[in-house]
Amino acid sequence: MTAIAIPPLTKDLVRVLIDADTIQRRVDELARKINKEYAGIEESLILVGVLKGSFIFLADLCRKLNVPHVVDFISLSSYGNSSKITGNVRLIMDTRENLENRHVLIVEDILDSGYTLDYLRRNFTARNPASLKTVVLLDKPERRKIDAELDYVGFQIPDVWVVGYGLDYAERYRTLPYIAEMVPVTD
Ligand code: XMP
Ligand code: MG
Repeated sequence: MTAIAIPPLTKDLVRVLIDADTIQRRVDELARKINKEYAGIEESLILVGVLKGSFIFLADLCRKLNVPHVVDFISLSSYGNSSKITGNVRLIMDTRENLENRHVLIVEDILDSGYTLDYLRRNFTARNPASLKTVVLLDKPERRKIDAELDYVGFQIPDVWVVGYGLDYAERYRTLPYIAEMVPVTD
């Protein structure tokens, strides 16, 4: 097998915050916990990835699950046209699956203010799922505006903008295998 070159940091990126191996080890651990928790479920678990940021995390996570599951997606808009947090979350694209009486696991890239997850929890609870849990790769606890119930968390990180492993800045850097800190952006 040929080794895959790790893309170097560009001038926009301050440092690697979480390297690729550390991410993979943590995704392994999260998958093990999820496998244990849902072992023996009769109907498939529904993984609902929040687009777009979670797609790489979801792809890695679901391939490590040995419990029956289906993959679905939802798309939300949380910030409107600026990066200011408004708490104004809108549904852009709904799930294809009917969530009623199903075991649902929300897969999110990063928890910041908490508004997105709070919106999703309330929206999904109203659909009467059999159970509802969340797995979030990154958590910025310093930024929390609203209490968020988290079931599985990958890493707690400081209050900096991060990119890579699905996360972007203006659609760039999503495919980096590591998570990097960006130079502060002013808008
Ligand atoms: P809230 O504030 O609702 O936000 O918890 C969650 C959403 O905000 C985005 N977000 C980020 N995206 N790097 C990113 O690429 C970051 O550092 C970052 N912080 C927040 C993300 O879409 C997440 O779903
Ligand atoms: Mg997101």
